[in-house]
Amino acid sequence: MCRCWYRPGLTALIGGVEWIGKLAWLPPQDIVDELMNADLARTVMERIEALGQISEEPDRLTRTFCSPAMRRANDLVGSWMRAAGMDVREDAIGNLIGHYPAANPKSAREPGAKVLLLGSHLDTVRNAGKFDGALGVLVAIACVQRLFQNQIRLPFAIEVLGFADEEGVRYHSTYLGSKVLAGTFDPEDLKITDAEGVTMAQAIRSFGGHPGALASAKLERRHLLGYLEVHIEQGSVLEEKKFSVGAVSAIAGQTRTRVRFLGRAGHAATVPMNRRRDALCAAAQFVLAVENHARRSAGLVATVGEIAALPGSSNVIPGEVNLSVDVRHSDDATRAAACARLRDHAKDIGKARSVDVKWHVIHKTRSVACDRGLSEMLNQLVKRHQRESIFLPSGAGHDAAAMAALTPVAMLFVRCKGGISHHPGESVRVGDVRVAIAVMEDFLQTLARCDA
Ligand code: GLV
Ligand code: MN
Ligand code: MN
Repeated sequence: MCRCWYRPGLTALIGGVEWIGKLAWLPPQDIVDELMNADLARTVMERIEALGQISEEPDRLTRTFCSPAMRRANDLVGSWMRAAGMDVREDAIGNLIGHYPAANPKSAREPGAKVLLLGSHLDTVRNAGKFDGALGVLVAIACVQRLFQNQIRLPFAIEVLGFADEEGVRYHSTYLGSKVLAGTFDPEDLKITDAEGVTMAQAIRSFGGHPGALASAKLERRHLLGYLEVHIEQGSVLEEKKFSVGAVSAIAGQTRTRVRFLGRAGHAATVPMNRRRDALCAAAQFVLAVENHARRSAGLVATVGEIAALPGSSNVIPGEVNLSVDVRHSDDATRAAACARLRDHAKDIGKARSVDVKWHVIHKTRSVACDRGLSEMLNQLVKRHQRESIFLPSGAGHDAAAMAALTPVAMLFVRCKGGISHHPGESVRVGDVRVAIAVMEDFLQTLARCDA
């Protein structure tokens, strides 16, 4: 019976000769499961395309915190959650939350069943790829959809989270959505302004959220089983090893800083070169110093990703420059030392050029280890679906890092082409999405057996 699946044409339909071959060895129920997963994986890919069309910029994908594009994204993803049998709500900061009830809440130990959290973020960087964040939300919805279609309820409830801000593009303070749920959001951040002078509080209000109610949006730790996030790897280890997926061991910390160089603007024709206090020249020297420093320190990455020179005229000496510095290392002490050295270096450059330097750390997170028990379980489940498994550290930041303050977290990385991310070239194979769905389903079933 199994052999009948070796049909030309079906391969193209469900993705991958390697996988079709595998069907021959599976018991019939597993074949049905694999085919249904292939169907769900295709749905995820179609939804990735649809969500990738929702942008605040006409020719590229950009979806920032509390933007009209985020409103449309939440509405669309909310409709998919409803179709998968979930009750949908938005919390005070605009996180989208789909709730799939437990089998029999009354039989649970505490007032209501425990909750397993799944998800990732729905915001993007500027000129983004379609998979960063979105994949994790859509894979989670696909798994719940399958439970719903099969009329299965688990001993615990599932909440699928579409976080409102992970990238920190608009306010440079990242993990806003997950920090609210974890109860670590700093209300001082509500005063930060974006490039247009809109405070975070105003942005949340205009999105329909409630800045005054953020503290009460925190989830109750005692109700939670944990948080699992599926995400593209954003690196090339899985590709090199020819693996579809891999469990994550830890998420590196990061520091994001704004640096302001204040010199003196003046006439580009009349101020002699030796009398200038050119803020852009000081900043340029600093940008190269950042690169140099990171190149010479093993494991350190440092990036100046944004820079603005004022007043911004070809015939005016730049009097002010504002730039961002993003510093990462898996070891927190090494990262802190690197930041201190870069700050001293910026000050030295400023002193030599009579340019004032202001150093303002906007966001700082520690490295976070994924939960040993959940991650080991995930790793064992990965082995059921590919010949070997590996644990991967994450250099990039993820909502799981903020959620770890609240509940045990685990992450599953999915191979992405060439490791390309934060770029429109992000690409993921449908066959790997199928594996991610299968692993997450196994994860749900295994937890259900433990929790029953
Ligand atoms: C999130 O994408 C990050 O900047 O690590
Ligand atoms: Mn990202
Ligand atoms: Mn991401």
